[in-house]
Amino acid sequence: MADTPPVCDYEGSDYQTTFWDQGGRAYEDQAEAIALRRMLPASGRMLLELGAGAGRNTPRYTGYERIVLLDYSRTQLAQARARLGDSPRYVYIAADIYKLPFIDALFDGATMIRTLHHMAEAPKALAQVRRVLTPGANFILEFANKLNLKAILRYWLGRQKWSPFTLEPVEFVALNFDFHPKGIRQWLLALGFRIEKTLTVSHFRMGLLKRLLPASFLAALDGLAQPSGALWQLTPSVFVKACLASKDGTASKPASDNILDWLRCPECTTHPLSDQGDHLECPDCGSRWAFRDGIYDFREPLP
Ligand SMILES: C[S@@+](CC[C@H](N)C(=O)[O-])C[C@H]1O[C@@H](n2cnc3c(N)ncnc32)[C@H](O)[C@@H]1O
Repeated sequence: MADTPPVCDYEGSDYQTTFWDQGGRAYEDQAEAIALRRMLPASGRMLLELGAGAGRNTPRYTGYERIVLLDYSRTQLAQARARLGDSPRYVYIAADIYKLPFIDALFDGATMIRTLHHMAEAPKALAQVRRVLTPGANFILEFANKLNLKAILRYWLGRQKWSPFTLEPVEFVALNFDFHPKGIRQWLLALGFRIEKTLTVSHFRMGLLKRLLPASFLAALDGLAQPSGALWQLTPSVFVKACLASKDGTASKPASDNILDWLRCPECTTHPLSDQGDHLECPDCGSRWAFRDGIYDFREPLP
């Protein structure tokens, strides 16, 4: 398969601990929980969580029967597994979003929270997501917004060179991108999604406010302000709920319970792979993919 864009590698990172658990971000975490509650369907069959990290949001996806946690980092997935445990409800997959190891039209739901901002070629990543979604599926996408108030002020004061008003993404640190809301909408519409809801999140991401006011109070205020996202988006974080049109209004057929029925070779796209106990093997290109410590590993084939 063609070369894929570079990956922001979290292998060995203590992101969950330093950024969330000890990073003073209880307000942002609770504000995201409110946005997710407003966007998640009451029930669903199979959810793909893209860039699941250490599974911070996974317990929030209560309506889904099965959740596939996908992340490039094996160590993030190991943390998620330690948090959530082994059960038929959770499947852990190490893989690159640009090369998803799934058959087409498998999932009736997907979320991608705080992950698109690492995508150097976001439309390519979104096209992969669209490929594995079934007609009628929901896709909840969070993105970092370049058109936020702080960036606008900094630009007007001459403290920032890049314009927050232009549609192209800005890479403010290597492999960290902010996106324009209109640019995101254009990409989603071009892929056949309909935008159902837009919520603005983290209106009060300011050190002083966070020090003065309890996180739960700020999050509740944020919850009141989130619906204004339907009109304008000036916050650092934006949540979009997008849906794929369902064919003739008919529901898709339920996916098999057998994980082997879902997977395809990320190298040559062959399906099905054969189960060899501690690894899966592609009958066409011969690539072997490890199954180790409860994680299917599709990052690179076994030597
Ligand atoms: C900022 S963390 C967010 C984790 C989680 N969604 C959360 O909100 O707590 C971004 C995650 O995206 C993953 N990631 C980045 N690029 C990826 C790629 N190309 N394929 C799969 N995962 C990727 C990283 O390994 C990391 O766990």
